[in-house]
Amino acid sequence: MRWSDELRSDGGSKRVGRSLAAECTARQCNLLSFDALELVDPDRFALRGYPHDLWAQLRAEAPVAYCEATGFKPFWAITKHADIMDISKQASKFSSAQGITLARAGARPMPAVDMLVMLDPPRHGPMRRVANARFTPKAVRFRNEEVERIAIEIIDTAATNGADSQCDFVERIAAPLPLGIVAWILGVPPKDWDLMFRLTNEVIGKDDPDFRRDGETPSQTIKRARGELHHYFVDLIAARRADPQQDLVSELTQAEIDGEPLTETQLLQYCELIVEAGNETTRNAISGGLLAFAEHPAEWEKLKTNPDLLPEAVDEILRWVSPISHFIRVANEDCEIRGVKIAAGDQLALYYASANRDEDAFADPFAFRIDRRPNQHLTFGFGEHFCMGAHLARAELSTIFRHLLARLEHFELAGPVERLASAVNGSIKRLPVTYRMS
Ligand code: HEM
Repeated sequence: MRWSDELRSDGGSKRVGRSLAAECTARQCNLLSFDALELVDPDRFALRGYPHDLWAQLRAEAPVAYCEATGFKPFWAITKHADIMDISKQASKFSSAQGITLARAGARPMPAVDMLVMLDPPRHGPMRRVANARFTPKAVRFRNEEVERIAIEIIDTAATNGADSQCDFVERIAAPLPLGIVAWILGVPPKDWDLMFRLTNEVIGKDDPDFRRDGETPSQTIKRARGELHHYFVDLIAARRADPQQDLVSELTQAEIDGEPLTETQLLQYCELIVEAGNETTRNAISGGLLAFAEHPAEWEKLKTNPDLLPEAVDEILRWVSPISHFIRVANEDCEIRGVKIAAGDQLALYYASANRDEDAFADPFAFRIDRRPNQHLTFGFGEHFCMGAHLARAELSTIFRHLLARLEHFELAGPVERLASAVNGSIKRLPVTYRMS
C-alpha cells in the first residue's frame, strides 16, 4: 500500500478534469457529467473537505461511475454502501496487490510488495495472524491501562485549571494519543515519538506544502521520509533481535509463517504499516469528533448527561468523520456491478466516506446523532482487510472523549479549520479552539 497517496509518477500541476460521458464509449456508464478531479485532487480536499454533495449525486444517479481525472489512471467511483461491502468481501476478485491508492497516469505497474494490506488471499491470512492477537478486543482491554495513562497525561498537560485558554486541538490532544499508543505498542521509546510524528506527517502529508521541505516535490518528500523511517526501524529491529522486550517489534522478529521467519523487508513493512495506519487515522477521528461536537453542541450536552451513550457516540464519530475517504481495488477479471461492465485491470475507488452517508444504509445520514443505532459504518473497511486496529481505535476514542466530557468545561472554535491536502486521508491539520478544562 501506501496509506498515503502512492506516487508512482509525479502528478505535476493541477489540471482541469473533463466531463466523462463522451469517453465512456465502449463501456456502459452514466451520462452524469462532472469534474472527476473533485474526487481525487488533494488541493480541493484541503479547500473544501469531502465532496459530499457530489457523492450524494453519484449515489443517486451513477453509483458505479467511470472517471477520468487528468493526471490519474481512469477509475470507477463506487459510492454505495452495499456495493462497497460486496466488493470488499471478494478479495481475490478485487485485488489490493497493485496498490490501494489511485495510480497516477503513466505510472509503472507496482512491484509486488509483502505488506499486509496489499496481500491478497491466500497470502494475506497468515501475514495478518502474525500480529492480529495484539489487536483483538481482549488484547486491547489488556492495554486499557496504558491507553488510560497516556490519555490522562495528555489531558493533564492541556488542563487550564479553570482559566480560558487557546490551543490547536490537533497538536495538543488529538495527535499525541495515537502517536503515544502506536509507539508504545511497537516499542519506540518516548524520546523518539517526536521523530515518528514528523515522519508520519511527511509520509501522509507529502501533498501538503506544510509538510514538505523547501525545494522538495511530493515524491521526494515521501521517499526521504520513508527512508528515514526505514533506517529507524532497521535499528530498532536489530536491537530487539539482540534483546527482546514485550513489544510488537520483538514479537514480529520471533514470528514465523510456514515455519519461516519474516524477512527483513516484511518486518520493516509491518512496522511502517502500523505507524502509518494507526496514527493519522485515529488523530483525525479525535479532531473530527471534537469538530462535530463544536458544530452540534446539543449532541455534546446530550452525551454529557448520558455518558452511557459513549460507545454509540464513538461509532457515530467514526461514521461522521470517516478518516479514510477511499481505498482502491483492481478487478482481477471482467465482471459487472449494478449491470455496469468492469474490465479486468480496472481500478475501483471504494468511497467509504460516501457509503457512510448512504441514504439506503442509514436513516437521516446527514444528521450527527450520538445515539444512532444500528450504525454499520464502513469507516474501517470491510471483509478481508477490515482494519486490524479497529478495537484499539475505538478504545482510544472512548478514553479520550470520556476524559474530555468529564473535564472540558467549555470549548468553541477559535479560527478556521485547516485541512490536509490529501484525497485519501480526510485530515484536519489545525483545529484552533478556545477552551477551559479542569
Ligand atoms: C479511526 C482510526 C482508523 C481508521 C479510520 C482506519 C481505517 C482502516 C481501513 C479503511 C482499513 C482497510 C484497508 C483496506 O481495505 O484496504 C484499515 C486497515 C488496517 N488498519 Fe486501520 N484504521 C484506523 C486505526 C488503526 C489503528 C489504530 C491501527 C493499528 C495500530 C490500524 C491498523 C490497520 C492495519 C494493520 C490494517 C490492514 C489490515 C489488513 O490488511 O488485513 N488501523 N484501516
